[in-house]
Amino acid sequence: MQDDGIPTLKGWSEAELDAAFAAVCLELDTEAASLRSVDDLEAFRLHWIGRKQGRLTAISRTWLKNAPPEAKKSIGERFASLKSRYEEEVKSAALRVVKAEYERGTPARKQALVQAAENLEAEYRELKARAREKALDAEAIDITLPGRRRKLGAEHPLIRTQHEIVRIFQRMGYSVGLGPEVETDYYNFESLNFPPGHPARDTQDTLVVAGQERKPLRERLLMRTHTSPVQIRTMEQQPPPVRIVIPGKVHRNDAADATHSPIFHQVEGLCVDVGITFADLKGTLDHAMKELFGSSVRTRFFPSFFPFTEPSADVQISCPFCGGAGCRKCKHSGWIELLGCGMVDPAVFGFVRQKQPLYDPSRISGFAFGMGVDRIAMMKYGIGEIGLLYSGDLRFLEQFG
Ligand code: PHE
Repeated sequence: MQDDGIPTLKGWSEAELDAAFAAVCLELDTEAASLRSVDDLEAFRLHWIGRKQGRLTAISRTWLKNAPPEAKKSIGERFASLKSRYEEEVKSAALRVVKAEYERGTPARKQALVQAAENLEAEYRELKARAREKALDAEAIDITLPGRRRKLGAEHPLIRTQHEIVRIFQRMGYSVGLGPEVETDYYNFESLNFPPGHPARDTQDTLVVAGQERKPLRERLLMRTHTSPVQIRTMEQQPPPVRIVIPGKVHRNDAADATHSPIFHQVEGLCVDVGITFADLKGTLDHAMKELFGSSVRTRFFPSFFPFTEPSADVQISCPFCGGAGCRKCKHSGWIELLGCGMVDPAVFGFVRQKQPLYDPSRISGFAFGMGVDRIAMMKYGIGEIGLLYSGDLRFLEQFG
């Protein structure tokens, strides 16, 4: 203990602080227990928290002043809880003292005490009402503030192009089909007339799923290299006639460059009915290209090869940039190759017939086509790098808002 009655703190450790605070607390408790009258109460209040000589005030001032900075928070917290302990003590002592005084009071004293209690209660009610008002004020919303504007999203150029292509065929009566991106060897190759070991498989740069070696070849999983497997899946599910377009993502083990990406998009088409001919194929695709690139665009068909179509063709459109005169975009040829197509090979119907006998090549025929969405999007929007379509770069995407 120092001369001024402030207990000395031996150190700043938790244990030392605990001991020092426990001593002050004991002192407080003992004194509170001995209070007998209203005057005692007032003296108690002045002794502990009087502004000038208040003991709690003086101790906290002295201890905090000398404390190293890292101990200040811990000391402050302990004083806060000591303070609330003091308040509890005063409350219960006051109740005790007033009750006792009431018991032994004269009738006039009793009445004065009742009056005082009523005044206190009125004051308390008023305080509570004011606190509630304050809380409501804090909750108030300023309805004059401007709202927060949400940014509108934009359709990705790839998806926008895909929708545009799909809609053109929907207007001609086609419906939309989807299929899995992880496909079996059977649907991606065998049923499309790529027998095991056929050289046409090599052109597909297939990404296969690992650990499939113990399965029979036809069940092994791979990333589909084209949307054509959904032709088979659709026909297996649905007897002829079929008119369907299949948009979707495909995968090939291509090194990425300005025009190649290992992931890209195709829209597949399939039309099967009685009496479908190559003329229907030409007319359908010519119309679709005119819808997509403008009515002045012309188409031409070149012999090609796909295992699942016979005959097969590559389709070129007259260059929409130069009208066919020749420019950098069409490498000065006036034509741009855009899609593959052909008449469905009877061998394909042969695979489908195992599940849907109505696909009898002596009664029905059909055509199929497939186009790359990425290339069409790049042409339509003048995009020079396919990677931009997959970068997620907002500076690029915002241009389509
Ligand atoms: N699936 C072929 C490809 O990815 C495109 C195609 C589809 C060709 C349908 C003919 C018929 O190259």
